[in-house]
Amino acid sequence: MIRGGKPLRGEIEVSGAKNAAVAILPAALLVDGVCRIENIPQISDVTLLLRILKNMGAGVRAVNRNTMEIDSSGLTFGDGPYELMRRIRASSYLIGAMLGRFGRAKVAMPGGCDFGVRPIDQHIKGFTAMGAETEISGGLICAQARDGLHGANVYLDIVSVGATMNIMMAAVLAKGRTVIENAAREPHIVDLANFLNSMGADVRGAGTNVIRIYGVQKLRGGTYSIIPDQIEAGTFIAAVAGAGGEVLIKNVIPKHLECITAKLEEMGVYIEARGDSVLVKREKPLRRTNIKTMPYPGFPTDMQPQITALLSIARGSSVVTEDVWDNRFKYVDELKRMGARIKVDGRTALVEGIDKLSGAPVKACDLRAGAAMVIAGLCACGVTVVEDIHHIERGYENLVGKLRGLGADILEVSETDPEDGDIKQVVG
Ligand code: EPU
Repeated sequence: MIRGGKPLRGEIEVSGAKNAAVAILPAALLVDGVCRIENIPQISDVTLLLRILKNMGAGVRAVNRNTMEIDSSGLTFGDGPYELMRRIRASSYLIGAMLGRFGRAKVAMPGGCDFGVRPIDQHIKGFTAMGAETEISGGLICAQARDGLHGANVYLDIVSVGATMNIMMAAVLAKGRTVIENAAREPHIVDLANFLNSMGADVRGAGTNVIRIYGVQKLRGGTYSIIPDQIEAGTFIAAVAGAGGEVLIKNVIPKHLECITAKLEEMGVYIEARGDSVLVKREKPLRRTNIKTMPYPGFPTDMQPQITALLSIARGSSVVTEDVWDNRFKYVDELKRMGARIKVDGRTALVEGIDKLSGAPVKACDLRAGAAMVIAGLCACGVTVVEDIHHIERGYENLVGKLRGLGADILEVSETDPEDGDIKQVVG
């Protein structure tokens, strides 16, 4: 429950990157030893993945709130827990990890946010080129490389984060060299490569569109710290841009934020990089702009709902084009409940800025759409109640607490069960 209209002031700390963590944790299955992984965000997708790894036979030990030790040394092949796997998108990474480790994999078809069709043909194309046969039956993806995986040249037809990461995982222990062309370049791709390299892999070129992976015999254990979450940082910048005020956002990599901050600066937000922090200030009304989402270093699709919420109160009309997902404007109907004037036509939204949104009961349709509703609530007159916040909890660590620390009038009214989204208890 949010009472809007209070500017945000103070300092906050960004957590570890969700989309790096959900790849690095499955990648720990490739390691014949103990991986100590630091800066893991406390989010429900991570909790679920850790349960899956445990269920598969890995040792999982919490060192502290954000540090885990994963011991996959004694791991043997077995089916993963179907019901848990099908709930998250990142379970697809278990295919690459298991194929790499055992030469075979059996994984439930992945779930995750619903933006229309979410195919994995490019992942499978990579595995096939490396000598694996795959089939989908009974909701499971089964892959097997009878003669072991071998290196291959894979040209991705679409720039895919998931396919790039998955093929990279399968390739680190394969025989010979794998080349991924037209690879995704997101910061979490580089983070996964750095993790694998710190465990003894030989991955070169991550962060460019050609990645070369030279197969090694074995990965050993080690310690690794996950990068800060680019999208969580972007979400806080957007929150300050909407609510006004001045906030120092700590534990960020400013370079990773440029694709987001460039647009917010165009909208009249003051942003200053200060080492591993950014200072964000918004005093004047927001100005219109046009946005087109693209793979990194373009404007990230995972910031599209948050920026659309801001554009709904900017001066003038803006065009938002979603170029990554088929159907990522479902949340617009929720914003309209708050008075926003937005017209969606396919992958384009025409946003006509109004003076003020008004508080309303709304739903979080998915993770980033939920964050957009919270931002809208912070800017609106009156009270906004955001339902289904289990979507938000999948990817933001303590969003409500962090915003309250900045002076927002926001309260978690009931606690949801991270497993199924049901209300667990009424908090206040
Ligand atoms: N695609 C294919 N075939 C494939 C794979 C992808 O056609 O085999 C298409 C998709 O349908 C989509 C585009 O390629 O149109 C990009 O998909 P990508 O594979 O890059 O997405 P993903 O790996 O499934 C990750 C993030 C998403 C983020 C996208 C794009 C994770 C767990 N998820 O998904 O994050 O939107 O990359 O950057 O890393 C989020 O954090 O809210 C989120 C949804």
